[in-house]
Amino acid sequence: MERTTLRCFYIVCMFCTALAGDSCSLELKPARVVVAFGEPVTVNCVASRPVRVLGWESAVGATHTQNDLTVQWKVDSLIDWIEEPICYGVFFTAPRQCEEKLNLVLYKTPDSVSISLNHTGTMVEGKEYQLLCEVQNIAPVQYLTLRWYRGQTEVYNHSFSDLTPTTPVQVSSSLLITPTMADHGVQYTCAAELDLGIDGPRPPPRVSSKPLDITVHFSPSFSQPEDETLELSKGDEASLNCTAVGSPPPSYTWSTAALSLEKMEDQPILTSTALRPGTYTCTASNILGKKSKQFIIKPKP
Ligand SMILES: *[C@@H]1O[C@H](CO)[C@@H](O)[C@H](O)[C@H]1NC(C)=O
Ligand SMILES: *[C@@H]1O[C@H](CO)[C@@H](O)[C@H](O)[C@H]1NC(C)=O
Ligand SMILES: *[C@@H]1O[C@H](CO)[C@@H](O)[C@H](O)[C@H]1NC(C)=O
Repeated sequence: MERTTLRCFYIVCMFCTALAGDSCSLELKPARVVVAFGEPVTVNCVASRPVRVLGWESAVGATHTQNDLTVQWKVDSLIDWIEEPICYGVFFTAPRQCEEKLNLVLYKTPDSVSISLNHTGTMVEGKEYQLLCEVQNIAPVQYLTLRWYRGQTEVYNHSFSDLTPTTPVQVSSSLLITPTMADHGVQYTCAAELDLGIDGPRPPPRVSSKPLDITVHFSPSFSQPEDETLELSKGDEASLNCTAVGSPPPSYTWSTAALSLEKMEDQPILTSTALRPGTYTCTASNILGKKSKQFIIKPKP
């Protein structure tokens, strides 16, 4: 009977200590520390009632004092990926023992952040490509956000909060893109950002990749694809502008029924005082396609 009561008390008491941190009479100052790899760290453990032994249990900097109300955990350069240190107290009165775990975040910025494309050579508009961002040797990955930028604009972010390792790891993120002519000459970058919370450094430590230049091949197009009509008197200079955008830069051919046998220039702009009324067709072409545009010259009434 007595034995059962004792056992019961023990269980209840265990439950009490486990739940109520206050009853421990130990306070860690600060309660959470964020330390950069290789940097010093100091945390005080303070007891709020007379204590027989007060100490730190840790793989590095373990220490203890007798009868002192404060014990310091101090490491000059933290380079070990240790478990969280624990401050423990052995008291004269009940509860006779208790402990507080330090919330320790040791972080390391990545050795490198690089971006690559699953393709060599120029991209082609409308096809899908994969960009890969690789981050080497970062910790703790649960605080990492990988941000993707197109030019200056963030287009995607990838967080790793569901991962648990506290030691340095390698992670990657991929981005699928289907480039258009608007992507020609654009730079993509990715940045690894460690947001370590309010106790962490502000702004959050950040390492960016070198930009990846995107070159895209796309077929020619005109800013004004509609036919153009010009009214000219004999001897007026006509200037027909057939400039198209395309990559690689388009080449041009001109043709007209009236001059079908005459070789016309291979230039985007046809300038002449000798153009007779009629329809002039210009074709801009490159390896991806061609587009035509018509210029109609009418005599001025
Ligand atoms: C690159 O990735 C895209 C999207 O996953 C895929 O469609 C394409 O075939 C890949 N290209 C190469 C060369 O592996
Ligand atoms: C990630 O991007 C989403 C929108 O795409 C945004 O709502 C969110 O705030 C971003 N997350 C972070 C951590 O910046
Ligand atoms: C020809 O047209 C292009 C595109 O429409 C324009 O950028 C360029 O300035 C024009 N050139 C001339 C000489 O008008």
